[in-house]
Amino acid sequence: MSLSTSLTRPGSTGPDLPTVPNDLLAIGDLDGSTIRGILDLAVDLKRDPIRFSTALAGRSVALIFEKPSLRTRASLEVGLHRLGAQSVVFDQRDSPLGERECVHDLGRNLERWFDAVAARVNRHSIITELADCCDVPVVNTLSDLHHPCQALADLLTLHERGIPLERLHLAFIGDGNNVCRSLIEAVVATGGRITVVAPPRHGPSTEVVATAERLGTVTGGRIDVTDDPEAVRGVDAIYTDAWISMGEAEDPEKLEELTRFRVDEPLMSIAGPDAIFMHCLPAHRGEEVVDGVIDGPRSVVFDQAENRLHAQNAWFVARLS
Ligand code: CP
Ligand code: NVA
Repeated sequence: MSLSTSLTRPGSTGPDLPTVPNDLLAIGDLDGSTIRGILDLAVDLKRDPIRFSTALAGRSVALIFEKPSLRTRASLEVGLHRLGAQSVVFDQRDSPLGERECVHDLGRNLERWFDAVAARVNRHSIITELADCCDVPVVNTLSDLHHPCQALADLLTLHERGIPLERLHLAFIGDGNNVCRSLIEAVVATGGRITVVAPPRHGPSTEVVATAERLGTVTGGRIDVTDDPEAVRGVDAIYTDAWISMGEAEDPEKLEELTRFRVDEPLMSIAGPDAIFMHCLPAHRGEEVVDGVIDGPRSVVFDQAENRLHAQNAWFVARLS
């Protein structure tokens, strides 16, 4: 099933690959039709990987990590290899960007060897600075504010479950963090509805909500924010994430406030029998989600993890081939 018009791939005739902006720093950089174009391509890449096995032959991508990663590193390294590209990992966990040399000089070096740079950074301002000084495309693979590659993989997972994005109703419950923000942008851009269920002190910022509301007037999308877990009634999917994100200080008060937002079997029952469970992982079992839900038949968390590869590869093919 196609998400938008069918696209023609390298080696055949017909419409072009989706046109994507130079950088992918936030989902807000993409409009709904571009997102659908990337997802369409991801479906094709997943279905017929051999067809794309030389799509990026001779290309090189720098992968920078200021924070730990399993899924992002694995899906980028394996994914780029499957496209014929080379990746070089820079583990910067003990040496934050801008410390050994300024971000400007780092970017001006990287563009001499690499066709793109993907970076996981502590502060979003670092990746915008890198994108400003680097002539090659820059991809945000998680900052304190955004996780766009995750949101693309999540929309692909929802599509695979047969949920039309323009009719999607997703509930994000827990901390209104980077993953929540990217989901808000992705769901509203594609005309769906997102309900954020969070304690008032830890919900998305008023600016994020206002921007989504404005976008929704154009796309038909919708955002609601509440602190009532009953609001998950009837949704297609319940999504949660860590209550304390990487780099954030431990906060027992915050954990206490979030306790009533845990995803457990009673909450899934309120959602309804068809609701699926989503989590970007890593999960903190017993904290934001219980074993019975994440290991249950309605959990799609490992599909989401796999789809990181296909969604990211679609972006790289669209941008670099
Ligand atoms: N979901 C995600 O980004 O996982 P990692 O932190 O393991 O890369
Ligand atoms: N919100 C989490 C996501 C991890 C993939 C974090 O930033 O640590």
